[in-house]
Parts: sequence; C-alpha cells; structure tokens
Amino acid sequence: MYTLGIITSSDKGYAGEREDGSGKVIKEIAEANGFKVESYVIVPDEKEMLKEQFIKMSDELGVNLILSTGGTGFAPRDVTPEATKEIIDREAPGIAEAIRMYSLSITKRAMLSRAVSGIRKRTLIVNLPGSPKACKEALDYVLNDLKHGIDILNETAKDCARK
Ligand code: MTE
Repeated sequence: MYTLGIITSSDKGYAGEREDGSGKVIKEIAEANGFKVESYVIVPDEKEMLKEQFIKMSDELGVNLILSTGGTGFAPRDVTPEATKEIIDREAPGIAEAIRMYSLSITKRAMLSRAVSGIRKRTLIVNLPGSPKACKEALDYVLNDLKHGIDILNETAKDCARK
C-alpha cells in the first residue's frame, strides 16, 4: 500500500463554485491502484498556500506521492508549477515529459500544460492538468510505473529489473 496526498488548485473549487471532479477522479484511480489517500485538499491558485500544502504532506504526513491537479496552464493565476519548483529538492522531469508525450497523442493542447515533477525528501510530486479527463489520461499512463520510482526513493526496491 502506498500513501497519497491530493491537492486541487482551483479558485472556483475553493470558493465552492465548482465541484472538484479532478480530485475525485484521482482518488478513484489511485485507490484502484494500491494507494491510500492520506490527505485531500482544495486550495485557491495561490503560490504560498500551495507550497504550504506540498510541504505539510511531504514533511509532516510523509506521503509517498503527491498528485496536484490544476493551475498548470497559461492563465495568469496558474502557479502550480512555480509553487512545485520552489519546494522540490530534486527534479524528476521524465514524469512530466512522459505525461506530455502521451497526452500529445490525444490532444495537441497538451503542449499548453507547464506541469512539472520532482522529489522532496521521500515524497514524489507530480503536477497534473486541471480537467478530470486529462487527469485520467495522465494517470492511466504513468501511475503504475511511479510505484517503482517510489520504491527506489524509499530504498525498498533493489534494482530496476522490470517485472
Ligand atoms: N492533457 C491530457 N492528457 N488531456 C487533456 O485534455 N488538456 C490540456 C493540457 N493537458 C489536456 C492535457 C489543456 S487544454 C490545458 S490548457 C493544459 O493541460 C493545462 O491545464 P490546467 O491549466 O487546467 O492545468
């Protein structure tokens, strides 16, 4: 069992003006894939509030994985990648690259996602785009292999031999 934190970045979600479909989709897919949701929060598109949640879930809760949704596009208030970059110790760009590569085969608009991925302490952090559809597409592609990264990060896997 792996532990997970979910952060939805959405001004409308935070204000209760929009249902958080993406957070729900992430929770469903993650639970079906062996993850236990330890924390799930909706925050407005505010860099400091996002950073606070990333740090809390990593340093205090010690979750294996944090998935954020939303705030990765070009809207002036989209700041999730900036918040993420400021709190990670090490970049893990391949995950964001893989998501964009696969997503581009579905929609060219995937080029508009500025999502990043990285590591803080023993926690892997991955930005996902804001729509439930995009979250599902991205997770279907990467989630299973993220578990191996988590094992390596926590020294519970010895090598990279593929099953
Ligand atoms: N990725 C996938 N897999 N499927 C999608 O439909 N939508 C794109 C992109 N990535 C999309 C996707 C669009 S339209 C945008 S604007 C960006 O993600 C950023 O989304 P965000 O600002 O909601 O985070």
